[in-house]
Order: sequence, then structure tokens, then C-alpha cells
Amino acid sequence: MIRSANKKTLLITGGAGFIGSHVVRKFVKSYPQYHIYNLDALTYAGNLENLKDIEDYPNYTFIKGDILDVALISEIFYKYRFDGIIHLAAESHVDRSIDEPLAFVKTNVLGTVNLLNAAKNLWQDTTQGCRFYHISTDEVYGTLGKDGLFSETTAYDPNSPYSASKASSDHFVRAYGETFGLPYVISNCSNNYGPNHFPEKLIPLFINNIMENKALPVYGDGKYTRDWLFVKDHAKAIDLVFHNGKNQETYNIGGFNEWQNIDLVKLLCKMMDQKLNKPEGTSQRLITFIADRPGHDLRYAIDASKINKELGWKPSVTFEEGLEKTIDWYLDNQEWLANVTSGDYKDYYKKMYK
Ligand code: NAD
Ligand code: TYD
Repeated sequence: MIRSANKKTLLITGGAGFIGSHVVRKFVKSYPQYHIYNLDALTYAGNLENLKDIEDYPNYTFIKGDILDVALISEIFYKYRFDGIIHLAAESHVDRSIDEPLAFVKTNVLGTVNLLNAAKNLWQDTTQGCRFYHISTDEVYGTLGKDGLFSETTAYDPNSPYSASKASSDHFVRAYGETFGLPYVISNCSNNYGPNHFPEKLIPLFINNIMENKALPVYGDGKYTRDWLFVKDHAKAIDLVFHNGKNQETYNIGGFNEWQNIDLVKLLCKMMDQKLNKPEGTSQRLITFIADRPGHDLRYAIDASKINKELGWKPSVTFEEGLEKTIDWYLDNQEWLANVTSGDYKDYYKKMYK
């Protein structure tokens, strides 16, 4: 266990991205006695606008940098002497991983190993009070059929270049634990949704398309199932696992909230019609079934009973509440959406959806 009353110097990687920005905000605000360093390369998915409200906090520092940069990572580990690392930086979108697998191997695998080396070197004299926390995904477990849940002991069986790269990075974290005694925790979470989500993933993409009256491209027959968790509930789980989780253990995090894509999209359409004062059925007419994603995993579902029993965590909002908060955020932050969908996004969209 890591006690939170102590002063700590933490490195959070990928803090300008979707989940990372919620984690950085939570730690900066909840732990004024800590200093939080946010390292992010600011790829297309990273955006400092996500952290505008906390950028002047005295316990927060942003470092622009790449987790693949060996000299920089070694330098900042020695300069700041981190006690803890919460590692979120990654290439995170399955469709992009099908288009460009090597980028995923570089950032997700090599980048993680670079951070592990730096932590191992810094903590070689003592690992007391230190912890490397790897944020991972339920996609490492592959796909479920109609029944069953992923538990912490489910065998890894990844199907996409994204999930294979995350599985590999999880294995490296465990290997550093076994071989070098590096204290680590890993959590594998289901699909997140909420404010600041880049509009390439299902929910923000479809909110944006409805606002722009564009087609809603549903892959295959839309019968694929995902478990959805509100991002702020994930950030709370990360806080708990970081402070109270046991070293060398894995925690599965999920929303107890399975939806077939088509049902989720219909609910989203209905809620958007209400918010935009359009007659019911308007947005649903935008649904367009398109060619399936190669290697598309049928179903993900998480058994989150370990984190619930051991750390007392459970989601705080229902899906309908979380979705409403998410829609309201996008409607109130259209400038954010306009900024991230200008430039390169247009080329990405054309390439992916022809
Ligand atoms: P994201 O794509 O929104 O953000 C990734 C962040 O990492 C961005 O800020 C980007 O600039 C940064 N980054 C990328 N490559 C980098 C590099 N080489 N060096 C430094 N920074 C780099 O991702 P997200 O959805 O917030 O996911 C964060 C983490 O959580 C990832 O590790 C992902 O695998 C994991 N995860 C995501 C979900 C989900 O539903 N989004 C679910 C479970 C686990
Ligand atoms: P996504 O948000 O990309 O997350 P993941 O692939 O990591 O689960 O996709 C969620 C589900 O929605 C998945 O089954 C694929 C599907 N999907 C579509 O049908 N159309 C789309 O345009 C996108 C991006 C996803």
C-alpha cells in the first residue's frame, strides 16, 4: 500500500489525452502535497486545452516529450526522482492500429520498456514507497462469446495490433516485476466515455456526426458488445488502485454496463434529438451500416468484483446519467470539438470512412 499523506513526486504519462487529463486533474486537486509531472508528446490525441483549469496549480508541471526518447526519460527520472509513475501514454485507437501497427509497437511496447528501464535504474537502491502503475485495457483478453466475463486470471488472447501491443506492454511490466523486483500494479479497464474524448471513438464520433448531420457509420451488423464506464469513475478507480492496490497485482475495472453497439447508438440518437429539440427519429435516420472492422472482437465484459471487494470501488453514475453529462459537455464545448476536428482530422476521416 502507498500512503497518501506523504509528499510524493509523480510522473503521469499521456496526461493531455482523454483519460490522462481526468487522472491528472484528480491527482493535482486531491493531493496538493504531491507534485504531478505530466509528460505528453502532444500527438493528435493530446490537447493541453483539456487541462486549462489546472495549468497554473503550484503542484503541476507539464513536460512536452516522447516516452521513446531515452535521453529525456533518463534525465527527468534523475532530475525529479519520481516515487510513482502512472503510465497512460499510448496509441489508443484500434482502427489506427490496423492502418499503422508499427506506431503502436513503438509507443506502446518500446515506450513502456523505456519507462520501465528508467524506473528500474532510479529505484535500484530502494523500491520502498515506489510504484509503477500501468494503465491497460480489457482488450488484451481478446473476445468473449455470448456468455462469460473477463477476470484477472483470463488468459491473454489479443486480436488487434492495438490490443497485442498493450498485452505486450503488460507482459513487460510483469517481467520487470519478476526479474528486477520492480513494484508494479496493472489495471485493465473496459471502454471509457465522457468529456474530452477524441472524436474517433464511437461515442464522441457519433455525437459530432449528429451535430453535423453526417452519417453514423456502424460496423457490420452493429451486434458487437462493449462494457462502458464513465471516465471520471475510471479516474477514481486509478486513484484507489495507485494508493491501495497490492504490488504485483492486476485489477480489472468495468462499468457493469454492457451494450450492443446498435442499441447504444439508438439511445444516443434519442438523447441527442431531445437535446437538439429535433423530432424523435431524426438522428436515427443517419445510421448507416458499413463494412466490418477486420478482426472485430464480438464482446467485452468485465468481472470487476476484485476491485469492488478489495478496494470498495464501484461506478458512481448510471450509463444514462454519464451519457447525458457527456452530451452536455460536447454541446457546451463546441469550440474544443471544432479545434480537434480541423486539419489532420479531416484527412483521417476521409481515409477511414472513404
Ligand atoms: P488518448 O489517445 O486519448 O491519449 C493518449 C495520450 O498519450 C495523448 O495525450 C498523446 O499525446 C499521448 N502520447 C501518445 N504517444 C506518446 C508518446 N510516444 N510519448 C508521450 N505521449 C504520448 O488515450 P486514452 O483513451 O486517454 O487512453 C489512455 C490509456 O488508457 C492508454 O494506455 C489506453 O490503452 C488505456 N485505456 C483506454 C481505454 C479507453 O476506452 N479509451 C480503456 C482502457 C484502457
Ligand atoms: P471504439 O470506440 O473504437 O472502441 P473499441 O474498438 O476499443 O472497443 O469502438 C467501440 C465499438 O463501436 C466497436 O465495436 C467498434 C464500433 N464502431 C463502429 O461501429 N463504428 C465506428 O465508426 C467506430 C469508431 C466504432
